[in-house]
This record gives sequence, C-alpha cells and structure tokens, in this order.
Amino acid sequence: MTEFTEKYLAKTAAKLGLNTEQMPKNIAIIMDGNGRWAQKKGLPRIEGHRQGGKVVERIALDCVDIGVESLTLYAFSTENWKRPAEEIEGLMKLYTQYLIGIRPMMMKNQVKLVHIGSRENIPSHVTDALDESMEMTRNNVGMILGLALNYSGRNEIVDAAKKIAAKIKDSALSIEDIDEKCISSHLYTPQIKDPDLLMRTSDEMRISNFLLWQIAYCEFYVTPVCWPDFNRKELEKAILEYSKRNRRFGGLSNKS
Ligand code: IPE
Ligand code: IPE
Ligand code: MG
Repeated sequence: MTEFTEKYLAKTAAKLGLNTEQMPKNIAIIMDGNGRWAQKKGLPRIEGHRQGGKVVERIALDCVDIGVESLTLYAFSTENWKRPAEEIEGLMKLYTQYLIGIRPMMMKNQVKLVHIGSRENIPSHVTDALDESMEMTRNNVGMILGLALNYSGRNEIVDAAKKIAAKIKDSALSIEDIDEKCISSHLYTPQIKDPDLLMRTSDEMRISNFLLWQIAYCEFYVTPVCWPDFNRKELEKAILEYSKRNRRFGGLSNKS
C-alpha cells in the first residue's frame, strides 16, 4: 500500500465505522449483466455495454477515494470471442473510446493502468490505446487499475508454465525453484496483489475463468444489480459485507 492510498483508506474506514484491517485493499470485479440491463429496457445489447463503460470510470474513481490499492476489472474474456461479430466490434470500439476517455481521471488521481490478458486478436486500435494509456500512467503512484481484456485464467497459468519451462531450458531456473511464489511471479499480474474481495454483478454464481490462481482465499460477493446500475452505494454494501467475513485461511477463527 502506498502513502497515497493509505490516507484515503483510513478516511473511508472511519466513515464506514470500520478499522482499516476490515477493509478490502485489493478488489476484483466481474462486470456482468450489461446485455440483460439493455434487454430489460428494450435497448440493443451494445447500449448496456456503453452504459457499463461509463460506470467503469465512476467506480474506479470511487475506489481511489475509498483507498483501494488495486482494482481489477474483467472487461472481455477469451471466451467472449464466441459472441456475434457485431457485438465484438461494438465492444472493441467502446474499449478504445473509454481507454482514451479515462486518461484525465487517471492522471489527476495517480491511477496506474495495467493490462492483463493476451494481446492476440485484439484490434490494433485497442492495443494502441491501451499502450498509450499504460505508458502515460506508468509512473503514477496511486491505485493500480488492472484491465482484464482478452483474459483467461487457465491461459494465464499455461503461459506461466511456458515461461518457467523456457527459463529451466536456459538454465536460468531449476525445478527446485518452482514454488507458489515462483508461479505467482510468472502470471500476468506480478505487480497486483491477490484480491481480498471478488464481486460479480447480475446474480451469476460463477467465476467464468477469472483470476483462477489469485482467488484461492478471496471473499466472493454477488449482487443482483446489473453492472450498468452498479454504484458507490452498492460498492460500500459489498465492503461492509466483506468486513463481517471471517477470513480463516484454513486456520482457526480470529473472531469470537
Ligand atoms: C458483461 O455483460 C460484459 C461482457 C461480457 C463483455 P454481458 O454482455 O455478459 O451481459 P449479460 O450477461 O448478457 O447480461
Ligand atoms: C464474464 O462474463 C466475462 C466478463 C464479465 C468480461 P460472461 O457473461 O462472459 O460469463 P458467462 O458466459 O455468463 O459465464
Ligand atoms: Mg454475461
């Protein structure tokens, strides 16, 4: 945690009547339900994605204000390529638009953008916008915003295995060096700590291939609210729920 996020965290904890240990420092969100939100309103699915994109900037800003150390958002899974070409094309255009649109917010608030996932098959207008936003925010010292775009938890582990195998082949690593820390450091997210809290919107009780390794002892929170309707109040509800959880990590209860 940096000094930057720490002062915000203390302020939010006091406001919510919690101590800082009860606050989640690293949050991940499966932003789901854009299509259903649009459907309920009789709008095309892409309108749900458009509204969902607006919520990303607001929630990222709320997380800065709350004092979150890292916020990792699931924007597009490798399985999402199965969707109709028209929806994918619309989504890619929105990613570029929002990746450019959030730059002033990120610069003003010391947010550092990190891409997690594969660059394969992503149109160059999106990778260009991603690269420029990452370069621009590289030295920011506040919250890390992890964007999972073209991401698969299983592929991430496969890629880590390949990177480790290549190092062993080159004698840069030996088999005895392979432990949990070693695998973690070869994932897409070495600079992001494992999430304390994983949220999913729109009531689905599944992981959908997100952060499989990193969520080993994460607390899971599901809300019926669709992502385009998600807001600060819902976020604080999740944090309050998290603060009541008893994280045992396999040991015995530390609460009476
Ligand atoms: C999440 O919303 C956004 C992406 C997966 C890109 P969905 O598009 O999955 O919305 P639903 O689940 O169909 O309502
Ligand atoms: C998970 O949502 C991926 C993202 C939110 C980007 P999906 O809507 O793709 O997941 P499933 O298909 O319902 O499991
Ligand atoms: Mg969905």
